[in-house]
Amino acid sequence: MTSYKDLGLVNSREIFAKAVKGGYAIPAFNFNNMEQMQAIIQACVETKSPVILQVSSGARKYANQTLLRYMAQGAVEYAKELGYNIPIVLHLDHGDSFELCKSCIEYGFSSVMIDGSHLPYDENVALTKKVVEYAHQYDVTVEGELGVLAGVEDDVKAESHTYTRPEEVEDFVKKTGVDSLAISIGTSHGAYKFKPGQKPEIRLDILHEIEKRIPGFPIVLHGSSSVPQDIVAEINHYGGALKDSIGIPEDQLREASKSAVCKINIDSDGRLAMTAAVRKVFIEKPEEFDPRKYLGPARDKLKELYKHKVVNVLGSDNKA
Ligand code: G3H
Ligand code: 13P
Ligand code: ZN
Repeated sequence: MTSYKDLGLVNSREIFAKAVKGGYAIPAFNFNNMEQMQAIIQACVETKSPVILQVSSGARKYANQTLLRYMAQGAVEYAKELGYNIPIVLHLDHGDSFELCKSCIEYGFSSVMIDGSHLPYDENVALTKKVVEYAHQYDVTVEGELGVLAGVEDDVKAESHTYTRPEEVEDFVKKTGVDSLAISIGTSHGAYKFKPGQKPEIRLDILHEIEKRIPGFPIVLHGSSSVPQDIVAEINHYGGALKDSIGIPEDQLREASKSAVCKINIDSDGRLAMTAAVRKVFIEKPEEFDPRKYLGPARDKLKELYKHKVVNVLGSDNKA
């Protein structure tokens, strides 16, 4: 058993409490390789922002559980070397079983999500409660989810949103003991969040209704990539084929960050940024075959994107 505390990581309790009070949100950036991790840490050290390093079950399989443990420890040391000891959380994204959450905790995660959002309400409560009881023994924080996002969540695909029902949140939080709650208010995973012609809008009215029921309780937004159109255009300019990809407008996320939304999940925008940079090198310098010559620019573009998110969207700069 590796305790996250020995790796220099923190759980999410204190940084969420500060974020809710301060009217900003902590970035939760997904990663599964070294360049992504470097970009996240460089961006958050330079902006002095707390950060959540987020790992999906697919990413854990891809990167390997043991390597991830050392990468997270490396991230803490790397941040110090870069000159600022920012709070770093290692978080399991969309945990789908008690066993996976338990295993992540044993491998040094400081926070886990148990996503029972596809289950009937009572089963979601029972599973989430079981994970909370286990995790809290080790001072690991737990995120639960109520409501279903449209789109693909790991292997589960929902055609349309099932918005979180504000009348359920108080009971869910009380019965499960979770530390934060992911809600469904119109965000969704991936790069195709709205259909062409649809107005890209999230339901801030539902968010405010939820906040009234559980004042000050940490709220999480998944599926919060904005799918920057300049990056999409760059990908397509360099031979890509992304059609009708639309994300969440950044001003709406900025608005949500000012409320009890204290964690915003961004993965797809990072994937797009890396892809654009790699494609550019492949087209402009077809003679290159040193991975550093395309992964380096990809890392730089990622870092630039993350700094923009921290400063202009989440408002978590200078909060470390
Ligand atoms: O919510 C999903 C995240 O974007 C992770 O995606 O399961 O492909 O790693 P993944
Ligand atoms: P995006 O696909 O919008 O980046 O969402 C990521 C996410 O919610 C990870 O859990
Ligand atoms: Zn998600």
